[in-house]
Amino acid sequence: MVVVSPESVFDEAEIFELYDSVGWEAFTRDIAKLKRSMVNSHLVITARDESGKLLGLARTVSDDEMVCYVQELLVNSAFHGQGIGRRLLEHLMERYAHCRHFILTTDHESTAEGAASHAFYRRMGLIEHHEQKLSAFGLRIGGSSPA
Ligand SMILES: CC(C)(COP(=O)(O)OP(=O)(O)OC[C@H]1O[C@@H](n2cnc3c(N)ncnc32)[C@H](O)[C@@H]1OP(=O)(O)O)[C@@H](O)C(=O)NCCC(=O)NCCS
Repeated sequence: MVVVSPESVFDEAEIFELYDSVGWEAFTRDIAKLKRSMVNSHLVITARDESGKLLGLARTVSDDEMVCYVQELLVNSAFHGQGIGRRLLEHLMERYAHCRHFILTTDHESTAEGAASHAFYRRMGLIEHHEQKLSAFGLRIGGSSPA
């Protein structure tokens, strides 16, 4: 049995194990920063099994009216393909159904991780910005100049 619920207290070792399982070094490099970002999130939800093991997590940044930004959604790599990502995302889609925008950023489809996450998000009914005649802009990640 998998239980999805909001949480507001976070254990660094447990978070590290989850993020490390999917190879997200950009997050595990500074686990104290990641923990602070969770504390400052609008909502953090987790998926745990009956023993309490952390299987997955998703968090949002939101004004709870106009926009919900899904900042991270991940499932421990040993538990992929068991419907846990679906449970987490459906929880968020329902929770923020009243918001005008439900958005997220993920790797480009040309990358291995992007190919997998695009397939997941499309399966879940999400649509890329350009398919809705929208664009997303941001500063270059890390502030680096073009190669
Ligand atoms: C993407 C991720 C969250 C999916 O979680 P998951 O628990 O493995 O996904 P689920 O088992 O809930 O799959 C939900 C649906 O998406 C489909 N799906 C999931 N991954 C897929 C893939 N790589 N290719 C095709 N379909 C996929 C499933 O077949 C399933 O369809 P169904 O419910 O109609 O049968 C998980 O693979 C993960 O944590 N990846 C690493 C982190 C990441 O990339 N996060 C997303 C970017 S922020």
